[in-house]
Amino acid sequence: MSESATRTTIVRLLSHMRDGKEVRDYLNRFSEIDQSRFAVVKVGGAVIRDDLEGLAAALAFLQTVGLSPIIVHGGGPQLDSALAEAGFDTTRIDGLRVTPADAIPVIRKALGVVNIAMVDAIRESGGRAASVPTGVFESRLLDEVKYGRVGEPVGVNLDLVDAAVRGGEIPVLACLGETDDGRLVNINADHAVAALVNTLQPYKIIFLTETGGLLDENGDVISTLNLASDRDRLMSADWIKGGMRVKIDQIQALLDSLPLTSSVSITSPEGLSQELFTHAGAGTLIRRGENLITNAAKTDVDWPRLEALITTAFGRTPVQGYWEHFAFDRLFVTENYRAAALVSRLDDVAYLDKFAVLEEARGEGLARAVWQEMVEYSPRLYWRSRSSNPVNAFYFQECDGSVRVGDWTVFWRGEYDLARVPDMVGRIAGLPETLQATN
Ligand code: ARG
Repeated sequence: MSESATRTTIVRLLSHMRDGKEVRDYLNRFSEIDQSRFAVVKVGGAVIRDDLEGLAAALAFLQTVGLSPIIVHGGGPQLDSALAEAGFDTTRIDGLRVTPADAIPVIRKALGVVNIAMVDAIRESGGRAASVPTGVFESRLLDEVKYGRVGEPVGVNLDLVDAAVRGGEIPVLACLGETDDGRLVNINADHAVAALVNTLQPYKIIFLTETGGLLDENGDVISTLNLASDRDRLMSADWIKGGMRVKIDQIQALLDSLPLTSSVSITSPEGLSQELFTHAGAGTLIRRGENLITNAAKTDVDWPRLEALITTAFGRTPVQGYWEHFAFDRLFVTENYRAAALVSRLDDVAYLDKFAVLEEARGEGLARAVWQEMVEYSPRLYWRSRSSNPVNAFYFQECDGSVRVGDWTVFWRGEYDLARVPDMVGRIAGLPETLQATN
């Protein structure tokens, strides 16, 4: 990789990470995976047209740090213009490009040009890449009368992909398939990705797009989407467009075929390394996620499990007898007890007693999902935190006000009766210690 491009990427990464441990942990996590299973990266034709250099630099950087993604590229705009030039109209049915048999040579050539352009660009960035334009997707014709030569993958032949990865090269795949009688067919890029994902069971699926993520109603990138807990709310929002619904359905289907640890990231070439190597990421991270459970009765809580979560998350354990007189109100917890908000009562006021998230569950959006559920239930809320706690940055964003009292910072939000604040703050700062060192 060219020295200045590497430097730019590293500087960008350094300026966004909390500490070196974060990047190192992700790097270790990704390196442990068999590299043909690390990541399937889908690149659209528009990104290749508009940002080939940035794209190549981002991929070559991954290779510099020892990772080997598998690239699948489309070529929508390139095909549109090549076909128009050859006198074909572009017609789509059900989102699929209708492909007359005599358009196949044009498509093969145009996708070949795109494919080689990507491989060359990666090489120019100092990376190593292998062109794999055909030979992977074993296909059958979907419906020749309706769509022409459009194929649907029925199998994936990984020989060429594995050979490239073994040789230290990034395989760059085009969306062309062959029928079992050797006819070349055009494959929709999303179908190609789905087939590859099914076979490879990758740890990450990455969509590199120009917008760099899914956008909310204000046009801001949605940072995380936990399908189990966020999907219904999102899909019923009035601002969500049809295209985004389809995208989310496709992603749900992809994730349903993968282990819970796998995730989808939608990001831009520039955001890729930050997305992969930091907790906060740059783009949209989508997981199948865990369901959120709300326990309204003390007896529904799995107390030993909750205690284990708290102990691991804080590195400290509840003091002796802590739970005995606990004024339990609600527990918001993910189904696998990886993130939880435990709410108790101080008279009639909700008090967030513990907000615990496992380190390994950070960056998944679980904490935010738990938090949102909790504040919806209890708009008026108080809590405290050690003034040295790094989570305070998040709390400062979420609170309406805070006061530092000795070692503690007391926070509140949604307090409609501000005259109560001083009293509550004093009382909360004076609550006894709840956690002690583990021994
Ligand atoms: N680096 C982690 C990953 O790639 C977390 C990314 C978080 N991304 C986000 N958009 N919130 O799995």
